[in-house]
Formats: sequence, C-alpha cells, structure tokens
Amino acid sequence: MKKLTVSLEHCSYPIYIGTDLLAKLPVYLQEAGITPQQKLMVISDSNVAPLYCSPILEALRQAGYQVGIEVVPAGEASKNLNQLEKLIGSCLQFGLDRQGVILALGGGVIGDLAGFVAASYMRGIRFVQIPTTLLAHDSSVGGKVGVNHALGKNVIGAFHQPALVLYDVGTLATLPKRELISGFAEVIKHGLIWDQAFVDWLAKEATDLLALHPEKLAEAIYHGCQVKVGVVSQDERESGIRAILNYGHTIGHALEAVSGYSYYTHGEAVAIGIAGAVQLSCNRFGLDQEIVRVTTELLASFGLPTTYEAGRFTEQALLEAMKRDKKVKNDQYTFVLTRKLGQVEVVRGIDENEIRDVLRGLEGR
Ligand SMILES: NC(=O)c1ccc[n+]([C@@H]2O[C@H](COP(=O)([O-])OP(=O)(O)OC[C@H]3O[C@@H](n4cnc5c(N)ncnc54)[C@H](O)[C@@H]3O)[C@@H](O)[C@H]2O)c1
Ligand SMILES: [Zn+2]
Repeated sequence: MKKLTVSLEHCSYPIYIGTDLLAKLPVYLQEAGITPQQKLMVISDSNVAPLYCSPILEALRQAGYQVGIEVVPAGEASKNLNQLEKLIGSCLQFGLDRQGVILALGGGVIGDLAGFVAASYMRGIRFVQIPTTLLAHDSSVGGKVGVNHALGKNVIGAFHQPALVLYDVGTLATLPKRELISGFAEVIKHGLIWDQAFVDWLAKEATDLLALHPEKLAEAIYHGCQVKVGVVSQDERESGIRAILNYGHTIGHALEAVSGYSYYTHGEAVAIGIAGAVQLSCNRFGLDQEIVRVTTELLASFGLPTTYEAGRFTEQALLEAMKRDKKVKNDQYTFVLTRKLGQVEVVRGIDENEIRDVLRGLEGR
C-alpha cells in the first residue's frame, strides 16, 4: 500500500493506493477521525454499486457504522442539479447531520457529484473519495467538485477537499477497456507536464500497465497523483500554476464540445489535444520534431488516438468551441505548451493561424 499526503493551507489529507483496500475502509475512516458515532451516506452509480457496494457496506456495518446508500444512473448525465437536489433529499431523510460523512464510490462523475453534495449539504460536511476509474486518480484529488448546467460543463461547483482518498486499484479490473485507456491519457499528461523519468517509465511499462499488473498500476497511479498533489499544493484554487493541468485540454475540450460529449471519451479528446499542443510547441519554440514523435508514440502505445477523423469537424467549429471554453481576448488563445519532455508552461497570445496549422495536422484519414 502506498500513501501520499496532500498538504494545503487549511487542511491536509491522505491518499491510499493499493489492492484489497475496500474491506479495510473502516480502519482508514477511524484514522481520519470518522467514528461509528457519525452517520455515513454512500453515493454510487448503477454500474459500480452492484460490483463494490456489498463488501463496503458489510465492512462498515460490522465496524458499527450506520450507513445509507443512494445509487444514481451511471453516466455524465447524472451530474446535474436535479440529481443534487434528490441526493440532498435522501441525506435529509436518512437523518444525516453536520457530523455525517458522504462516501463517493465511483468514477469522476460520482466524485464530482457526491463531492458537491458534501460541499453544499448543511453548508458543507466531510466526504471521502473512493475512486473506481483510472481517470479518477486525477478527479478525486484536488477538491474540485460540481455539476453541469445545460449551457456548460462543470460550471456549478466548489472547492471542497475530501477527508481522504482510498484508491483500490483492484476495482479497475471491471472497468471497460475503453475507459481504462482513456484514463491513461491523464496519467501520461501528468508525466508530460512534470516528470520526464515518469514518461520514460510509462513508455517502458505500457504493455504491463494495460494488462493491469497490480503493482505497476499502483505505481503509475501513485506517480500521477503525486504530480497532481505537487501542483495543487502550490495553487489550490487555480490562480496560477494549476493551469498547467489543462495540458492538452484546450483542443481536447473543443473536440468534446463539437462532438456533443459523446463521440470521444474525455481521455481520447485530451490525447488528441496533447498531440496538438506538442506540435504547437514545436512550431512556436523551434523544438526538435523528435519530441512530437516521442509524445505521440507514447499515447499510441496505450491505444490512444493522436489524430481526429478527417471531415468530422471543421477548423472553424473547433476554434469557435475554444473561444467559448476559454476567455479569448482579441482572438488570442491560451495554451499549455511543452518546453521539453516533462516541462510545460502556460502561453497566452497564441494566434488563430498557429492553431489552424496544428488542427490541419491533426486531421487523420
Ligand atoms: N474534479 C476534477 O478535478 C475532475 C478532473 C477530471 C475529470 N473530472 C470529471 O470526471 C468525470 C469523468 O470521470 P470518469 O471518466 O471516471 O467517468 P464516470 O464516472 O462516468 O465512469 C466511467 C464509466 O465507467 C463506469 N465505472 C466506473 N468504475 C467502474 C468499475 N470499477 N467497473 C466497471 N465500471 C465502472 C461508470 O459507471 C461509467 O459508466 C467528468 O464528469 C469530468 O468532468 C473531474
Ligand atoms: Zn482532464
């Protein structure tokens, strides 16, 4: 079992990563000062609950905890105000008070939704992240929680840090392959923005990682979380360096938006966005094209796309989406760009023509 600590100005919390951790949840709760005198509400989704709720509920009840459970339909569509209101109703009916604790059992959708229930219920109660997707190594750390609005993704939310993160990598065995691969895009991103040695290691271990080798998987998640923790500890509320976590996301978010959030998974869109960002970096800083080759080959070795289908989206539609997503002034865009492998910086004032060049190169066949 590996442990990381997130140390922020007003709080600190542990992240545990390993195998067979779910049944030990009561031990970790006690360590975080959450005792059987406090009521617990598990929030999960319709795919995850049938797989992982029973062992957790059994362990908690045996340890003397009083536990309620609410299951929402799986998928991004549940991350909305309607579900938030229903869940708050369930917490009230269950008699959860200000000492109560929410347990978010699932991927990023559940982490964001249940975390936002915790942030808003009775002006904020504690919550625990129990991630079950690879992508959630990213979303469960850092305290961003929230829901979507019909007019925008993640536009209603808060910063609310969990009391602890318990990451049982064994849960990834049941994750659909496409979701697993998608999660690797964020793992790779964490290497590319911060840690060249981690990038080299990922390139070497791709096959074993895709085969879910438990120790190596825990190692990859540990390093990915470590980067996120390093960045978030310096800039909890994204007023500066935290923006580098958006590497690959400028084009990635635009691809998701123009395809109605259904054609690509988030990770696939980010992978294509990373391929765009590294090419843009080359063009702008005169870097050796080798860095583009290494980056795209790494993404491809995990089964991630690095181009989008020709004719599927127009450059114009993608540029419009980028404008809506980020605050673009006078047609000047902001990108996170590579300086060298494992190091990036935020660059403002990117011209539309520079982006058009890159988008043309991203069109596959
Ligand atoms: N808060 C943040 O900092 C942050 C960062 C990145 C992404 N996000 C958010 O995360 C969400 C995406 O998260 P996600 O990719 O984990 O999606 P998700 O939670 O929808 O999970 C993906 C799918 O896998 C299923 N699933 C989850 N765990 C499983 C398991 N162990 N076995 C079988 N099936 C399983 C889910 O039911 C779902 O169908 C988005 O809403 C995004 O906005 C938040
Ligand atoms: Zn992302």
